[in-house]
Amino acid sequence: MRIVTLTSVRGAPGVTTTALLLASTFDDAPVVEADLDGGVLAVRYGLGREPGLTTFAASSPEDAEGWRGHAQDAGGVPVLVGPDAPGASASLWRTGGERITHTLLAANGVAVVDAGRLRTPVPIVMASDLVAVLVCPVAEQLVALAHLLPTLRQAIRGHVTVVLVGDGPYSRADVERSLEVSVLGELPDDRAAADALRDGGTSRARLARSRLARAVAALGADVNAALAAPMELAAS
Ligand SMILES: Nc1ncnc2c1ncn2[C@@H]1O[C@H](COP(=O)(O)OP(=O)(O)OP(=O)(O)O)[C@@H](O)[C@H]1O
Ligand SMILES: [Mg+2]
Repeated sequence: MRIVTLTSVRGAPGVTTTALLLASTFDDAPVVEADLDGGVLAVRYGLGREPGLTTFAASSPEDAEGWRGHAQDAGGVPVLVGPDAPGASASLWRTGGERITHTLLAANGVAVVDAGRLRTPVPIVMASDLVAVLVCPVAEQLVALAHLLPTLRQAIRGHVTVVLVGDGPYSRADVERSLEVSVLGELPDDRAAADALRDGGTSRARLARSRLARAVAALGADVNAALAAPMELAAS
């Protein structure tokens, strides 16, 4: 699989929301819940704690697509839920992280990883083809990003890029110039659509017409292009 990781540095800019929407723009792409603060997908979507990453890590998949047997459905998106307790999540990634990563890398398609707020990158984050850091263009998040970028660039196999969420005093050009990082896309502040996705209070067709879903669809196209031509992204 090609691995696309979404993460944040501070606050809650919508990593989980965007991961679900982004995965839905690919064909049959799972969301892999690698949030070391503990997963929320099971609770948010009324799913069981299992199957998920814990059962996947303990399994001996007979074929490369074995992840499917451990996925649950969150509004039409296959999700590999992580433990909801921070300690259990950290322990799972410490002991089973390499195995989960290697098994997914051998499968076809794209996986979208929800890495939560990034601390020490787990193996699947390090093995990512693309890591997109979601930030609101406000000073405190940009300063945190500036501190994280050098470590991230050293640790990640693929490319590191930024997605701006909502409005702030800094423009895309400001961020690209001052942090010397490419901005892959911009997402609107669209709480109604984000909350509807979380609470299920709307139809899929209506959600798909929202500003947020349309912006994530455009982001999906940019992610695809970046996966197809990584050198261009690196040079931008
Ligand atoms: N683009 C957006 N515009 C407005 N509200 C959003 C957007 N994305 C997410 N939200 C809302 O912000 C809240 C946090 O979203 P979400 O859980 O996706 O963030 P997160 O970055 O994953 O947070 P955490 O670090 O706690 O996991 C939710 O109430 C969600 O509905
Ligand atoms: Mg989250």
